[in-house]
Amino acid sequence: MEVIKVEGGHPLGGEVTVEGAKNSALKLMAATLMAPGVTTLTNVPNIADVHVMGKVLKYMGAKIDVLGVHTLKIDTSEVDKWETPYHLVAQMRASTAVLGPLLSRFGKAIVAMPGGCNIGARKIDMHILGLEALGVKFDIDHGNIHATTPNGLNGTVVTLDFASVGATENLMMASVHAKGITTIDNAAREPEIVDLANLLNEMGAKVRGAGSPVIEVEGVSEDLHPVEHRVVGDRIEAGTFVAMAGLAGGPVTVKGFEPVHLGLVLKKFELMGLNIVRGPHQCTVSRKGSIHSIDIQTLPFPGFPTDMQAQTMCLLAQGDSSCVITENVFENRFMFASELQRMGADIRIEGHHAIVHGVQKFSGAEVKSPDLRGGAALVMAGLVADGVTTVSDIHHIDRGYERFVQKLTGLGAKVERVEVPDPEIVD
Ligand code: UD1
Repeated sequence: MEVIKVEGGHPLGGEVTVEGAKNSALKLMAATLMAPGVTTLTNVPNIADVHVMGKVLKYMGAKIDVLGVHTLKIDTSEVDKWETPYHLVAQMRASTAVLGPLLSRFGKAIVAMPGGCNIGARKIDMHILGLEALGVKFDIDHGNIHATTPNGLNGTVVTLDFASVGATENLMMASVHAKGITTIDNAAREPEIVDLANLLNEMGAKVRGAGSPVIEVEGVSEDLHPVEHRVVGDRIEAGTFVAMAGLAGGPVTVKGFEPVHLGLVLKKFELMGLNIVRGPHQCTVSRKGSIHSIDIQTLPFPGFPTDMQAQTMCLLAQGDSSCVITENVFENRFMFASELQRMGADIRIEGHHAIVHGVQKFSGAEVKSPDLRGGAALVMAGLVADGVTTVSDIHHIDRGYERFVQKLTGLGAKVERVEVPDPEIVD
């Protein structure tokens, strides 16, 4: 098995460029199903989750050419299956993003029911309720969701209980050809939603209001047409490097994203004592004094992103006093804390609150990535820990960070991927 080894204590400095956003690229790839022909996506990150979405599309009959590393030409003209099997959904829950596009193009879809995942149950009830309101009939059978549209899709008002990213996206895509107007109320407002709406509009859809809590989709009767589109920069990858620079001291310039997409994160980091200079598509981060302990709570955009919670906890674990981090988006997203405790952090979990008492130092240890962002945050802790930190289960990190080790090495970190024997299994 492969692990990431980090030797602590080396300063970080220089420049790093982030890739296109994972959470956008996956949905844009799914949306290509709606426009028969060859859609070109540029700035696509070369990460494991994108490879899984590629497998999903190919399973349905799409052809994919990779140009260079970051450009995908996706030909969906011969797609003749509307089914996503469990072995693919089990690898990546976001495979369910094909539900909306398949309903829109074929009026039917079979998608394996996602199981729980390590950051919580991650239900899809809001996707189902919203699509039912548009006229979709669902049957759940042998672990698969069978969706049909016996009377077509009809625009209506769908009010989401929670501003779910995935439900907003599936509804936006399913309603592109629905009769009349579909209104998604309490819609998610993430930059990736806006990127998807832009792609759909370039393809000929009529989506208005993306980025606000009310999205209107006016159904069009013509087929969508393929286009060329650049994936928005990854604000979470950028935020991860910003947090790392803040912990290690910097200065580091992070390029390839829109600082406004990290608005509240950068503001909170400034309150924590980081010095951040914003520029066009980049920011430069450094820190001289101590890290100030402040409370954080995660919320849908423009609130503080849950995907930045672990990296922020890592910073606050070296804060100058105590604070509370409240996780409002996912249950079970504090597994990272117990690994960080192994490195000397002082964190107590109470329900969806983490009480964090700052410590002066982390000590290098063997730790395990609990999930994608938690894995990155453990490598981050290793950058400033005494001695060597070994992070295992790094397949989580590979899901969402391209050339993570190379990028950190480029900033001056002492970090490498190392093959180690599998630990012995003891019953
Ligand atoms: C997406 C992102 C993920 C990010 C999250 C929140 C992708 C591939 N993933 O996940 O990185 O952390 O947004 O910003 O884009 N929920 C329900 N029922 C539903 C749908 C969601 O109860 O039908 C719950 C979820 O369990 C979770 C919360 O709502 O607790 C938010 O989920 P959602 O916004 O849908 O996140 P994802 O789209 O899964």
